[in-house]
Amino acid sequence: MATLLLLWTVCLLYPGRIQGSSAVSRVFVLKGEDVRLEVQKPELLRGDILLFSWTFKSEDTVVGLPYNAEPRVNKNYTGRVELPIKNYSLGLKNLQEADSGVYTAQVIGDKNHRVAEYNVTVQERVSPVNLTVGSVSSSSDSCNLTVTCSAQDSSISSTVTCDTQTCSQEGGERSEGITSDASLSVYLSSTSIICNRSNQVSRSEDMKKIEHFCPRVPASTSSHSWAIIIVVAVLVVVCLLLVIVGCIVLRLRRRRCQTSSQKRPTCESGSHS
Ligand SMILES: *[C@@H]1O[C@H](CO)[C@@H](O)[C@H](O)[C@H]1NC(C)=O
Ligand SMILES: *[C@@H]1O[C@H](CO)[C@@H](O)[C@H](O)[C@H]1NC(C)=O
Ligand SMILES: *[C@@H]1O[C@H](CO)[C@@H](O)[C@H](O)[C@H]1NC(C)=O
Ligand SMILES: *[C@@H]1O[C@H](CO)[C@@H](O)[C@H](O)[C@H]1NC(C)=O
Ligand SMILES: *[C@@H]1O[C@H](CO)[C@@H](O)[C@H](O)[C@H]1NC(C)=O
Ligand SMILES: *[C@@H]1O[C@H](CO)[C@@H](O)[C@H](O)[C@H]1NC(C)=O
Repeated sequence: MATLLLLWTVCLLYPGRIQGSSAVSRVFVLKGEDVRLEVQKPELLRGDILLFSWTFKSEDTVVGLPYNAEPRVNKNYTGRVELPIKNYSLGLKNLQEADSGVYTAQVIGDKNHRVAEYNVTVQERVSPVNLTVGSVSSSSDSCNLTVTCSAQDSSISSTVTCDTQTCSQEGGERSEGITSDASLSVYLSSTSIICNRSNQVSRSEDMKKIEHFCPRVPASTSSHSWAIIIVVAVLVVVCLLLVIVGCIVLRLRRRRCQTSSQKRPTCESGSHS
């Protein structure tokens, strides 16, 4: 224990001596899930290691592994931590928001190294969204909808305009809170209006078929399938014509062979049958 304390003190007193990379890996975890943080520079684990440790926010040691001893786990992490000796990765269970922060792995030995650095963000599952259609106004050649995409704490409204061919969204896709934890957006797909809320670890969605509100507007797929049917029909007719023309030409040629006195080589196979 005394040596451990000494080593800890050494670590804390000379943090500048710890060499390491500046690249911090971002990790997003759904609240309540587990995470495993791998050592990023395993080549630096060779040689004499006096102490290996994982640190949280550069102040709490989560788990330390002194040379030739059992891992020592911080009381605050009892039952939640796993440190396999074969690869020194940090397994953390049941993450909560308070576990968000930077985790660092370091080696104290002949040389001191930082061997991993992760910026972990724990996020909650996003709340469900609700897409509601407000006013609908339709005429023979156009249809307008106002929609509201709402979540627990925010909402966006948008207007969709359809003519007989296509639908478009006034001002294009609308989004909110792109920079915050969870973003909310409302946009058009080919046949639906979609309301979408998402963060890095989860998403929720609600959608409405446009044809339920604008029944006169033909679904965009139907014009597509008509085009395919027409092309296929034209191809079939062309093939039939080719076959018929071919038959006629063959028959004409055969007849000419039979009546001709000259025996042309091309007629021979025909004259056998
Ligand atoms: C354990 O957690 C408490 C509350 O977050 C904190 O005040 C305390 O310093 C932690 N103890 C250790 C040993 O990290
Ligand atoms: C390290 O060990 C843990 C536990 O055995 C395992 O889940 C993890 O995949 C290992 N990592 C690597 C990089 O082998
Ligand atoms: C970790 O990510 C947060 C944003 O989620 C950022 O504010 C913070 O500066 C990052 N920390 C480091 C050390 O990169
Ligand atoms: C969405 O809003 C409508 C109208 O306010 C309501 O009837 C419906 O229950 C809501 N659905 C959800 C999943 O919140
Ligand atoms: C829908 O909106 C467009 C443009 O704002 C307008 O020209 C059209 O008359 C509207 N149609 C209906 C049925 O209200
Ligand atoms: C839902 O919204 C997020 C963030 O705006 C976006 O990255 C994602 O692609 C959207 N989902 C779909 C199906 O478009």
